[in-house]
Amino acid sequence: MAEELVYVPREALRQLFFTQLVNSGLPEKFSEKTADLMIFADERGIHSHGAVRAEYYSNRIKAKGYNLQPTLHFEQTGPCSGIYHGDNAIGHYVAYKAMEEAIAMAKHKGIAVVGVKEMGHSGAIGYYARQAALEGMVALTVCQSDPMVVPFGGAKPYFGTNPIAFATPKREGKPILFDMATTVQAWGKILDARSKGKMIPDTWAVDDQGEPTTNPHAVAALLPAAGPKGYGLMMMIDILAGSLLGLPFGQHVTSMYKDLSEYRRLGQLHIVINPAFFGDADRFLAQISQMVDELHAIPPSKGFDQVYYPGEIQEMMIEKYRESGIPVAKEIYDYLTQ
Ligand code: NAI
Repeated sequence: MAEELVYVPREALRQLFFTQLVNSGLPEKFSEKTADLMIFADERGIHSHGAVRAEYYSNRIKAKGYNLQPTLHFEQTGPCSGIYHGDNAIGHYVAYKAMEEAIAMAKHKGIAVVGVKEMGHSGAIGYYARQAALEGMVALTVCQSDPMVVPFGGAKPYFGTNPIAFATPKREGKPILFDMATTVQAWGKILDARSKGKMIPDTWAVDDQGEPTTNPHAVAALLPAAGPKGYGLMMMIDILAGSLLGLPFGQHVTSMYKDLSEYRRLGQLHIVINPAFFGDADRFLAQISQMVDELHAIPPSKGFDQVYYPGEIQEMMIEKYRESGIPVAKEIYDYLTQ
């Protein structure tokens, strides 16, 4: 039976996240940014990375699976490169601070490549790419996740759901934000289905026998998006966000759920490009807006109402939820308000 939903106004839900994190022992500045990331996801309908993660973060904080007194520092390693040392703090704050460094560098140097070294899970990574786009930059960010995906043709998991996000400003309105797990679906979508009592399509995941399953509770591993293509992409992301930074890779990445007291040591890589260093920035922005207009003008195919640009539907969800409140499984709402 489908689980009951509670519709919560954005600010109230954000406050519940913040309070839960602080009460679990996470210092306020980390709790602020983590709550921002969680509401960023939920208000866009990316329910895999919002309320559904609250209890997990709380349990990991209590288990000291994050460094709660980290020494964070940025090391410039070349004219356009650097490493942000996260000291296993909660990833949301670390990845955000690293992107701040990357934006500042790209504004002056034209491009910045900043590795983020040793942090906890950093949530919906589109947040960081969008952070740069809001400053007029084009950005790409990739990160590691724990091994829960069968490689193409394999029966055991090896890579994580290693996501990639790409954002660009346009001349007017919201940035374009493409943000995806390299699996058919993110692991959080399985959690979301579990919490809401829903079945999943048989193309998302396999059970412990390596067979496709529609039962979210039977999922043992996820499937790569588009077979060998998603698999290839997740491997390259692991190389950029992990091996390049000398971090554990593939099946050696620490599990998210097994030992909550163990530091994750995850890596992420931000690449930020200042369009002004590659031609006329105004013309660039105008061209992106023209591209969007032309895509919107393409007649929809059967079953579709229109062509959307990446991230557009998520932006529309913000408006929708402003009216209705954000849907949260009652079980999670009760947990947050107990
Ligand atoms: P998704 O499948 O819901 O969307 C992927 C992309 O496709 C989005 O940019 C979306 O705007 C676009 N899209 C979807 N429908 C569209 C349509 N009709 N027209 C145009 N564009 C459309 O996202 P997915 O793969 O489920 O990822 C969810 C989140 O999980 C992401 O925010 C990702 O960063 C996060 N994630 C984080 C991980 C971590 O370890 N930190 C691991 C894996 C995922």
